[in-house]
Amino acid sequence: MRLRRKPGITEALKEFAGLVAAPRPGGGWSGEFGRPAPLHVELGVGKGTFISELAAREPGINFVGIEAQPEVLFQAAKRVTARDVANIRLLHFDAGGIVDIFAPGEVRRLYINFCDPWPKKRHAKRRLTSGLFLAKYRVIMAPGGELFFKTDNAELFAFSLEEFATAGLEVRDVTFDLPAGLDGDVMTEYEMRFRTLGVKINRCEVVFP
Ligand SMILES: C[S@@+](CC[C@H](N)C(=O)[O-])C[C@H]1O[C@@H](n2cnc3c(N)ncnc32)[C@H](O)[C@@H]1O
Repeated sequence: MRLRRKPGITEALKEFAGLVAAPRPGGGWSGEFGRPAPLHVELGVGKGTFISELAAREPGINFVGIEAQPEVLFQAAKRVTARDVANIRLLHFDAGGIVDIFAPGEVRRLYINFCDPWPKKRHAKRRLTSGLFLAKYRVIMAPGGELFFKTDNAELFAFSLEEFATAGLEVRDVTFDLPAGLDGDVMTEYEMRFRTLGVKINRCEVVFP
């Protein structure tokens, strides 16, 4: 998803003070939320449908949504504001720097939904499920922390399962055709689009030691 470059987007994001937060070097996100609570993080929130719905359903969780494109984050900020949920912070940030903004062991759950597949082999390290990223997640994940992963892309899913195995991570509940409307599951924007086209959705959960 690429939105047209919007002049003054950095200024526009300031409208959402209190929701769009600054990266916190070293982490300590309970300070940002003003309460201790399990921390769940979504990488690549897109327009924020998933995280806003989840935060409304799970008020006892602190949610941080990370998005690399400021124009897309702006859309997410509008959506979260409309849902009036207080337990989300949104960050304009690249997931590559994730170890700089969370303390070791701080994150209880990571969500990666329909991340860019980077189909060329020479770009494999950019995939958010590559071994390079898994090594970073391992630092910030709490013991027993989970990564919930969904994608439409069968090649990316196969690659990811291999990377999880190579990293020695436990993988559970693997499905290559996730039924729609399961209890507790929330659909993302991309998922809605793919389901309309009849594309099967792959999903799994990964447990960090
Ligand atoms: C294909 S879209 C999926 C959006 C949403 N998760 C969904 O399922 O509808 C991927 C999103 O991840 C963002 N993204 C890609 N690489 C990223 C990175 N390294 N760090 C943060 N966000 C990233 C993109 O800007 C884009 O908004």
